[in-house]
Amino acid sequence: MTCQIEKVFVTGAAGMIGSNISRALVESGLSVVGIDNLWRGTRYNIADLSSCRNFSFRHADIISDHHWYRNMDEHSALIHTANIVAGIGYVFANEWSIFQTNILINAKIARIVNQFQPQLLTYLGTACSYPQHLQRSVDTSVLSEANKIPADPDSSYGWSKMIGEIDFRLAVKGTRTRLIVLDLHNVYGWPCTYNDSTSQVIPSLIFKALNSTNGKLSVWGDGKQGRAFLHVSDVVAAVRSALSYTGTESAFMLGPDHCTSIGEVAQLIQAHPRVNIHEVVFDISKPTGDIGRFADARLALRELAWAPKIEFRVGLHELIDRIIDDRK
Ligand SMILES: NC(=O)c1ccc[n+]([C@@H]2O[C@H](COP(=O)([O-])OP(=O)(O)OC[C@H]3O[C@@H](n4cnc5c(N)ncnc54)[C@H](O)[C@@H]3O)[C@@H](O)[C@H]2O)c1
Repeated sequence: MTCQIEKVFVTGAAGMIGSNISRALVESGLSVVGIDNLWRGTRYNIADLSSCRNFSFRHADIISDHHWYRNMDEHSALIHTANIVAGIGYVFANEWSIFQTNILINAKIARIVNQFQPQLLTYLGTACSYPQHLQRSVDTSVLSEANKIPADPDSSYGWSKMIGEIDFRLAVKGTRTRLIVLDLHNVYGWPCTYNDSTSQVIPSLIFKALNSTNGKLSVWGDGKQGRAFLHVSDVVAAVRSALSYTGTESAFMLGPDHCTSIGEVAQLIQAHPRVNIHEVVFDISKPTGDIGRFADARLALRELAWAPKIEFRVGLHELIDRIIDDRK
C-alpha cells in the first residue's frame, strides 16, 4: 500500500539533471533534501534554492559519508542521479575509475534503500547500457526497453549503470520500495559543465565554437555518428510523472524518436547568431563511440503520459545563450 510522499532525497542535486529535478520539486511544494559531493556539480547550480524553506543541502559523498540519508523513511522517495558521467573522451580514458566509482555509489544506494525502504527509488539509467550491436546506425537503431538484455554495452560506464540497476532490483525485492528506472538518451541543458575534460558533446562543442580563434569548429569523428538529444526539462517532466505512477511497469526508455548527427549539431551551433564559425572540420583520429541510437518511447507515452516537448534547435540555441552569458 502506498502512502503520501513527504520528503524527496535527490542524489547528485548540484548536477545538471539533479539541480533541475530539485528545483521543480521544491516549486511543487515537496520537501527536498539534496545530496552531492560536488565532484562535478557546483553550489552555484543550486544557489537559488538555498533560501527555500523546503530545500536543504547535504554536502556528502554517497560512498563514504553517512549523514546524507538521515531521516529517510517510508514517507520518503529517493531520486538517484549521482553517478560519474562525462563526455566520451573522459569515459574511455578513465574506464576503470568510472566503473569502480559507479559500482560503489550504486551499491551504497542499494544498501540504504534496502535498510530504510523509502516508498520509491527512481534511478536514471542510460541508453549507453544497451547492446552496442544495436547502435550501429543513425537510421535504424531504435531502442526500446525490451532490447536491454542480453547486455553488451560498449563502455565501462554503460556496464556500471546496468549493474546498478540489477543491484537495485535485488535490493527492493520483497520490500515496500518501488523501483522506477528511466533510461535516458543524451541529455543536454543548463546548468552544465562546458569547460573541462568531463564535458559532454554538446557543451563541449559549444565551448570549442566560442573559443575558436580561426573560425573553425573541430568535431570528433566524421560527424556522421548521431545521438537522440533530450532536453533536461523533458527529463524533469518524466521524473515527476514517475513520482505519482501507480501502474505495473518499472523501466522506461526516454528520448526522441530520431537521431541528430554530430555534424548537424555543429551546423546548428554555427547557425546561432552569436557564434562566429565559418567552417566545421572533422577529426577522424578521435573516438566516436556508438554510431547512432534513438528511442522507442511508446511505453512512457502510454504509462507516464510522457513525450519529449523541447525542439532540439530551440533547446540548443537557448543553451548557447546561457553559456555565452555565463562566461561574461
Ligand atoms: N547527461 C546525460 O546525457 C545522461 C544520459 C543518461 C543518463 N544520465 C544519468 O543521469 C544522472 C545525472 O547525470 P547529469 O548529466 O546530471 O550528471 P552530473 O555530473 O551533472 O550530475 C551528477 C552529480 O553527481 C555528483 N556525484 C558524483 N559522485 C558522487 C558521490 N560519490 N557522492 C555524491 N555526489 C556525487 C556530481 O558531483 C554531480 O553533481 C547520472 O546518473 C547519469 O548516469 C545522464
